[in-house]
Amino acid sequence: MKHISDESIRQAMQSAFPPADARVTMFYEMQEYHLGWRNAQLEPTQADSGKLLRPRFCLLACAAVGGDPQQAEPLAAAIQLLHDFSLIHDDIEDHSPTRRGRETVWKLWEVPQAINVGDGMFTLAQLSLFRLAEVGVESSVVVEIARRFNQTIIRLCEGQYLDMSFEQRLDISEGDYLAMISRKTAALIAAAAGLGAILGNANREQAAALYNWGEALGLAFQIEDDMLGIWGAEAVTGKPDAHDIWGRKKSLPIIHALAHADAEDGGKLAAIYQKEPLEASDIQIVLTILERTGSQGYTAGVAKFYHEQALAALADLQGEAEPIAELHALTKQLLGRVK
Ligand code: IPE
Ligand code: MG
Ligand code: MG
Repeated sequence: MKHISDESIRQAMQSAFPPADARVTMFYEMQEYHLGWRNAQLEPTQADSGKLLRPRFCLLACAAVGGDPQQAEPLAAAIQLLHDFSLIHDDIEDHSPTRRGRETVWKLWEVPQAINVGDGMFTLAQLSLFRLAEVGVESSVVVEIARRFNQTIIRLCEGQYLDMSFEQRLDISEGDYLAMISRKTAALIAAAAGLGAILGNANREQAAALYNWGEALGLAFQIEDDMLGIWGAEAVTGKPDAHDIWGRKKSLPIIHALAHADAEDGGKLAAIYQKEPLEASDIQIVLTILERTGSQGYTAGVAKFYHEQALAALADLQGEAEPIAELHALTKQLLGRVK
């Protein structure tokens, strides 16, 4: 699968950008800043563009069922652009000042422009899908993929709704949390694999195995992301330390701690999660309580459970050996990631 390089994904994403009139070049340059293609002065650069996992999953899923991954490139680009759109808006919603080690779009150009920059990228993602017709994909397949793609986006928005609504609540169960992350994160990862498979002309079993793999991996991925949101090192993750505690996120470690802390710790934790504003000493108290409840180990165990489910789904997949082996290697690599 040597042709799946970061560069080929980037080129496919680049193809979604229209030629721009001089008056609006900055609109596209701010999008390119977010993608890591330009610096804050909007000069060309090569900064961190993210892991590009979703487009890679899409292309590998297509190849795994015997399809031509090159034909899936506009879809892979659409998936990454959609993901990046969601991050531009997510950083506004989460008040995140940094992503991938750099200032976020809203931080540099204010919220109103960041909303618009995100809207632009959302639309380029949609336009990229329609490029499938130009590379020989039948119209009926393009329409089916566009329908499923949009069903995925609405799930993602439902997940973001739940994530934000949980910030104001303390009564969140593990089931609520899983319902939230299956929407905000797992849906797009599952769609990346599932749609790649559909484009590669998968049979029903193959498409289901790849979709199930993506869904389980997506859950594991977000649970680990939530661990990084508490215990990740800023220098590695590119996101501020303990950002999810500052943001009162009801991620799995916090839900576990709220359910398992003794009365005194439970009271403290609840009080901190309702306090405005938080101070650095509050963050320390939360970290100490999380340690006493063993919430990090518990959360790592849940992530591992979904990782194993992902590996089991992949074991059911019949298809091309090389891309399946690569999906397997990527799945293994992601367990216990540090960024
Ligand atoms: C991002 O979720 C998921 C979407 C944008 C749909 P988070 O808010 O948990 O992720 P990070 O930590 O900002 O990347
Ligand atoms: Mg968020
Ligand atoms: Mg966020």
